[in-house]
Amino acid sequence: MSSSHAQPSPGEQAIEPRLATEWSRALNLRVPVVNAPMGGVAGGRLAAAVTSAGGLGMIGMGSAGSVAALCTELEHTTGRFGIGLVDWVMAAEPGLLDAAIAAAPTLISVSFGTSLSWVEPVRDSGILTATQVYNVAEARRAQDAGIDVVVARGAEGGGHGATEMATLPLLDAVLDAVSVPVLAAGGIGSGASLAAVLAAGASGVWLGTHLAACSESLLSDSGRRALIEADGTDTIVTRAFDIAMGLPWPTRFPARVLRNEFTDRWTGHEDALRTDRAAREKVTAAIDADDPSAAPVDAGQGVGMITTATSAAQVIHEICSGAAALLSRPISGSGPT
Ligand SMILES: Cc1cc2nc3c(=O)[nH]c(=O)nc-3n(C[C@H](O)[C@H](O)[C@H](O)COP(=O)(O)O)c2cc1C
Repeated sequence: MSSSHAQPSPGEQAIEPRLATEWSRALNLRVPVVNAPMGGVAGGRLAAAVTSAGGLGMIGMGSAGSVAALCTELEHTTGRFGIGLVDWVMAAEPGLLDAAIAAAPTLISVSFGTSLSWVEPVRDSGILTATQVYNVAEARRAQDAGIDVVVARGAEGGGHGATEMATLPLLDAVLDAVSVPVLAAGGIGSGASLAAVLAAGASGVWLGTHLAACSESLLSDSGRRALIEADGTDTIVTRAFDIAMGLPWPTRFPARVLRNEFTDRWTGHEDALRTDRAAREKVTAAIDADDPSAAPVDAGQGVGMITTATSAAQVIHEICSGAAALLSRPISGSGPT
């Protein structure tokens, strides 16, 4: 790892020793928290806020990712940041990976693909590499390709992803299978869940939904309200929005979103949706009107833990202080006090 990865971030205070992992110390992170690169949600402002709070902020270039969109978000970054790309978007936008490398981030992730040919040029540029994996075979493949860190992303997670395994069994299996650092993702959003994955051996967390609701995210106000109001049982895994919007997501990666009228009507009826133009146009109109009854709001099963719209610093503080308290007390089985 080059020494540039170990520069302290602005506003960084002392490392939180009860949560520090070998990986987070190597990156000089105060807390072992990476914000998941969430397309249309995790922009430069959120990345800057997460880095300033002691984690590693990431800019997400999702389905609508482009060189121009990346440049816009880069203007809002301060301190260290990472960039997350979607494999099929990167393939359709030939300049995107080069632009990401040229921005000299600490970390680049590419997910949702099968080719790992991007790993070598990114590493050759002195940038750390990450990818999300859903089973042991993928984790081993990524390690063999030279990846620096794998993200074990369980089915509980928000947004797109395979739904093969839940976060804890996946984390267990991946930790057993590879020697590279492993970040845990999917349904994490409390001191208890952070403590659980760190105690299991994760090098950190890759936090999506909880940071999506923060005031610095690009999420619309009604999307943020919907996250706050939702319960953990209010999510569904669906391809309905991707079909309605004509997005070429591989079928293996449906999205976990908040249930709404549209998902209730069309999940399980995707073939009919393909030929129903009016239904498909409903989604575009709902997105334009910021209407969460028919627009997609990506969310993991940890969404029930979100009770208010607050800053990324506050979310990270609450989750990390909760985890630190749990990890430093004797096990009593009585739950957090
Ligand atoms: C709003 C939202 C958008 C997302 N967009 C992306 C993306 O563009 N690229 C990506 O690699 N992962 C994306 N994800 C998935 C995250 O990387 C991660 O797997 C997930 O957020 C972890 O689960 P959690 O949401 O329960 O924390 C997204 C997740 C959410 C919630």
